[in-house]
Amino acid sequence: MLKLLKIDHVCLNVADVREAAARYALQFGLDVREVGEERATLACDYEPYSLELVCGEPLGHAHTAWQLRRSCSLDEARGHLAATADANWRDEGSTLVVTDPEGFEHHVVAHRDDADRRPAIARQTTTLGGLRPRKLGHVNRLTADMEAVTRFHTDVLGMEIADYLGDAGIWFHVNAEHHQMALVRSPFPHFHHLAFDYYDFGTLRSLFDNVAQHGRWLAWGPVRHGIAQNICGYVRITEEPLLVECYVDMEQLEPDHEPRQWPDDRFSSNTWGPLPPRSYFRFDEEAVRYERDSLEMLGEKLPPLEVHT
Ligand SMILES: [Fe+2]
Repeated sequence: MLKLLKIDHVCLNVADVREAAARYALQFGLDVREVGEERATLACDYEPYSLELVCGEPLGHAHTAWQLRRSCSLDEARGHLAATADANWRDEGSTLVVTDPEGFEHHVVAHRDDADRRPAIARQTTTLGGLRPRKLGHVNRLTADMEAVTRFHTDVLGMEIADYLGDAGIWFHVNAEHHQMALVRSPFPHFHHLAFDYYDFGTLRSLFDNVAQHGRWLAWGPVRHGIAQNICGYVRITEEPLLVECYVDMEQLEPDHEPRQWPDDRFSSNTWGPLPPRSYFRFDEEAVRYERDSLEMLGEKLPPLEVHT
């Protein structure tokens, strides 16, 4: 079985690498490690990088990379993928590229020890800023084939299920934190969000004040999720069609956690208040306009999206 340790990084296709690198750095507190015309890497903290930006299309998610546990070598992962009948993958040497049933690309990379393994607060820096995420924590995507994509994450990538939200959502974990991956049922597949961990509620306040002053808004939040326990807000990114979740206080699961079945109701989603507007599940221009002007809250129903299959 393939054994993952954590999410390693997310790679996004962007229109202008230098512009996007400066924007994510300024707005979310990331540290630009390398930047060129074709590729940039940005870090949360002391890791090599958590966000990779490349010049390409379609804009948005290009791949999510997963780091193996120390106890599972890249060769063992290679063997597992070779022995998994319906795995769609290719060997690129230091990276195993695995494609899920809806065409989302996952990269599996070897375990990597930092040169300095002390916690961040005990280390020294001359580059990291004061308001920065602790780490990239998870990704979430919409799926139109919940059953097949769930099987992919459990059988091919070796993830375990943390929780079910009715038949609308499934959360997956590879370590003690509640989830590193989640799926939400939808008429169409789409990358939904990547999520950064910001330590505590005070840093979220500073972060949301900062993105608001840069012209952004929260598609939903701040909320307290019943499932996963995290306090968070979802920042709308219009340049790349996705959301960035900024969260704190995620539930830590006990060893041998057993998945729970949550009712699909308002309290499971947000113990503090409302469900999201329907625009939260969309990335088209009309939905973004409705959200920016808060039209759903003013009583205008968001017209349904025509899904072409
Ligand atoms: Fe999330």
